[in-house]
Amino acid sequence: MNISIFGSGYVGLIAAVGFAGKGHKVICIDNDESKVRQINRWESPIFEVNLESLLSSCVNGKGNLKASSDYNEILNSDITFICVGTPSNSDGSFDQSYIIDSATEIGRVLAKVSNYHVIVVKSTVVPGTTDEIIIPTLEKYSSKKVGRNFGVVVNPEFLQEGRSIHCFLNPDRIIIGEHDRRAGDILQEVYHDFPAPILRTNVRTAEMIKYASNAFLATKISFINEIGNICKKLGIDVYEVAKGIGYDPRIGNKFLDAGIGFGGSCLPKDLEALIFRAGELSYEAELLQSVSRVNIEQPLRLIEIARKNLGSLGNKVITILGLAFKPNTDDIRQAPALRIIAQLLAEGATVKVYDPKAIPNAKQIFSDTIEFCDSSPDAIAGSDCVIITTDWDEFKDENLYAGKLVIDGRRTLNPEKARHLCQYYEGVCW
Ligand code: UDX
Repeated sequence: MNISIFGSGYVGLIAAVGFAGKGHKVICIDNDESKVRQINRWESPIFEVNLESLLSSCVNGKGNLKASSDYNEILNSDITFICVGTPSNSDGSFDQSYIIDSATEIGRVLAKVSNYHVIVVKSTVVPGTTDEIIIPTLEKYSSKKVGRNFGVVVNPEFLQEGRSIHCFLNPDRIIIGEHDRRAGDILQEVYHDFPAPILRTNVRTAEMIKYASNAFLATKISFINEIGNICKKLGIDVYEVAKGIGYDPRIGNKFLDAGIGFGGSCLPKDLEALIFRAGELSYEAELLQSVSRVNIEQPLRLIEIARKNLGSLGNKVITILGLAFKPNTDDIRQAPALRIIAQLLAEGATVKVYDPKAIPNAKQIFSDTIEFCDSSPDAIAGSDCVIITTDWDEFKDENLYAGKLVIDGRRTLNPEKARHLCQYYEGVCW
């Protein structure tokens, strides 16, 4: 099938190489010329495991993927995926501007399309957005009618950064939220050789499935962190507790790693957007608000531990190991480390940091207010306290921390070994 993909960010690019790898002919459409040039040179604008090699094999090898800034390329395709970002506004609501711009541009091109064309909403949009904003915009600018001249489907993605190509090619489920059956059938055909159950449903339900998934994952994490905070006061190891409860298949053993909470581009943003949407509907989402509160407070517990051991943090040298919101990515969006660093700076500490991938991104935020180091030993040398905020593999060697005061936010070290080797070791909730 000929597929156009609107937006070459994280979601769009992964979908592009995934579909091209399956033999579809894919065109990535983006108004950022530099991204377009990069993709056509088989260079990935973002870091993701195996993405660049797959891009090279599709663009250069099979020749079935290219990028363009010309929206008219949609005319050469049967189906268009909207994969633009849906960032947060400062009040937690989601910023619809990219979605509206895309629907406007696609609508203008649809005006020239004679065949039935399918528009797939892959961007994460709060329930109601497709019905209330996307479809009316497409109809307005195309002067065509949904269900007759074009079809619309909501098809959320559930990619996890660091393993998104694997997640894309081996999804747990494929959600097809169709406005009209014909559009759903065409999208199902695109996914015909993906090994996953397919749920055909309506547009709003598909939108909600994405938010409910992320809200549930966020809830699991804040739940185990809260249990961890209680366990710590009782001298109980929360990781043993998580193991014990995880044997129950109704609970499951995944997403129960206690620590400094969830960051990234999705869980915090989607949780806030759902809380906001509920509020618009006059529903106070108390559980979800608590999930968010626990997550906001959790990273700052590391600073309390530092204060307990060092007294005032003014003029103390503190090492932060890890900037990325999780290992194997350079993404620092909503990373707990950022809040910890900001608080340490506010208290007058000198902060040294190291991360294997995320330093260039962090430099854009902190510039010269903190010291960026080339390795963990460099960052640890001469510091009063080491705080581990991301569980990169290279931070897992307890010998790195001999004689140091170490506070672990991610259960990166084996507590028993660490207590033996470090001058002092404590975890955020163990
Ligand atoms: C998440 C969802 O998992 C994915 O389905 C959705 O499409 C996008 O959002 P991602 O943001 O890549 O994916 O990260 P994920 O692996 O889910 O981790 C999110 C955060 O939770 C990280 O900061 C991670 O460190 C933290 N986490 C995860 C925990 O603190 N404990 C856990 O047990 C699991």
